[in-house]
Amino acid sequence: MSPTPSPNNSSVTTRDFLAMKQAKKIIVAVTAYDALFGRLVDEAGVDCVLVGDSVNQVLCGEPSTLSATVEQMIYHARAVRRGVKRALLVVDMPFLSYQVNRDEALRNCGRVMKETGAQAVKLEGGANIAETARALVDIGIPVMGHVGLTPQSVHALGGYRVQGKSEDSARRMTTDVAALEEAGCFSVVLELVPAAVAAKISAERAIPTIGIGAGAGCDGQVLVLPDLLGLNDTFSPKFLKRYAAMADDVRGAVGRFADEVRRGVFPDADHSF
Ligand code: KIV
Repeated sequence: MSPTPSPNNSSVTTRDFLAMKQAKKIIVAVTAYDALFGRLVDEAGVDCVLVGDSVNQVLCGEPSTLSATVEQMIYHARAVRRGVKRALLVVDMPFLSYQVNRDEALRNCGRVMKETGAQAVKLEGGANIAETARALVDIGIPVMGHVGLTPQSVHALGGYRVQGKSEDSARRMTTDVAALEEAGCFSVVLELVPAAVAAKISAERAIPTIGIGAGAGCDGQVLVLPDLLGLNDTFSPKFLKRYAAMADDVRGAVGRFADEVRRGVFPDADHSF
């Protein structure tokens, strides 16, 4: 990893992503939305923590990410920053915070960087946001791109469906990733992309790719934390593997607590002063 300390807490930097790709070391990323889970995933040794706008759906119960706001992302990112010491911290820019024009994008992304202590922002889009990404990179804001299924465009895409299945759309995706690489993005998320398409793009391009539902040929993998922990147990897409069953644990633990309180078993002498 980097020989010099980063200006933030994290010791992993955006430059390490490229070094990891070149060294064929797989990049591991997860989302986090608060200081507690930020600390736990950092202690687990992930390389990157993404404060995803998925917070709007997964924790706030909204039907999509569209209603997420800059204030909301700053609130969660500041909390996560307090927990993350090592991993690279990236913040998702919410819908309409970077698409209207370049100046608004610079101001909103700059605000997120200044107010959260994050090291990079993530924007959804390919060639359509490349100019904005270039302007951000030019003022010193590292940018992670995001192509394939871009949840902020869910209505235009007609649902949460795999992208790049036809030759034409796979070609467009390849062009999008090339545009992001040329704009100076340090990495790109490939979401819901056929494994063969994602593997080809990852092999052909220098930019590190981070897959979610994009197969094993990407340079890294990301999952949404409550999904991989089995906390968000009503969400079961094909690409998701659950590494715990925490929704069952929560219901079981709270159920036992309620039962013991109701029976007068808790608190007992051991838990009283
Ligand atoms: O918002 C999010 O959590 C994301 C990941 C799915 C990559 O964008």
